[in-house]
Amino acid sequence: MPTNGHEIVRLENAWKVYQMGTEDVKALRGVNIMFEKGDFWAIMGPSGSGKSTMMNVLGCLDRLSDGAYYLDGKDVSQLDDDALSELRLRYLGFIFQSFNLIPQLTVQRNIELPLYYLGWDAARSAERAKELAEQVGLGDRLSHRPTELSGGQMQRVAIARALTNDPQVIFADEPTGNLDSATGVQIMDILVKLNKLGKTIVMVTHEPDIAAYAHRRLHMIDGNIDRIEEGEHRTLTAPSAGHASPPDGSRRAETFVAPGEDVTHATRKA
Ligand SMILES: Nc1ncnc2c1ncn2[C@@H]1O[C@H](COP(=O)(O)OP(=O)(O)OP(=O)(O)O)[C@@H](O)[C@H]1O
Ligand SMILES: [Mg+2]
Repeated sequence: MPTNGHEIVRLENAWKVYQMGTEDVKALRGVNIMFEKGDFWAIMGPSGSGKSTMMNVLGCLDRLSDGAYYLDGKDVSQLDDDALSELRLRYLGFIFQSFNLIPQLTVQRNIELPLYYLGWDAARSAERAKELAEQVGLGDRLSHRPTELSGGQMQRVAIARALTNDPQVIFADEPTGNLDSATGVQIMDILVKLNKLGKTIVMVTHEPDIAAYAHRRLHMIDGNIDRIEEGEHRTLTAPSAGHASPPDGSRRAETFVAPGEDVTHATRKA
């Protein structure tokens, strides 16, 4: 499967059919789409149009019934469950509407969880979790449990957890769906900054205001693509100090939000 080197995701004649008793539900009906590395896509469309189905397939949480899915040039449509979870663990990050944190675990342990499965030792994992918690402005909340956090803070923990494996692609299914609009904007600022740092982002959302942050908007209808909007998109809502990389080419630790929940600065890609 030749790629131009920029491609990260490609669906070819992608079908997903759910068997419901005697009835077939055709959730994806021959979708063809290609996403490039570093892109920021919003997937939109009415309820039942296939957004989550598409996201689950792209995120290797589910398999196609027919057609092909190439992830970074590799055909993953025929992989078994173990191979798919391995791919998710190593290359993908997930953010969900309901945060999906483990209530019994502290912020630090929640963030560390993927590293545990990746076999990292405790000291290195703790260090990585602390670094990521600081980047999302929660360095002072490491020993809190999710119930002791606000919705926006919980989502930031989920973002930190999604970043532990330095994912190639971040999938976000309604990441602001359970948040008030001001908090939603803070979360979008973090996603925008991650995208500027080179992460590919694929986000499902119902809200045009949220989709407006993406570079491209894919509108689904009845299991297929209705239309694609490109161009105009929102940038950061808060001013960014926008430091370029130091002249020696080294990267400073990137901070996405300050402890006071104010968006302050991010190290941008030059
Ligand atoms: N596990 C499943 N079993 C059977 N049918 C399913 C399953 N998941 C989704 N469907 C059906 O597939 C279609 C697409 O569902 P999907 O969840 O992808 O829609 P959506 O666009 O994400 O909707 P929403 O905006 O409500 O989240 C719907 O008709 C739905 O009922
Ligand atoms: Mg859905």
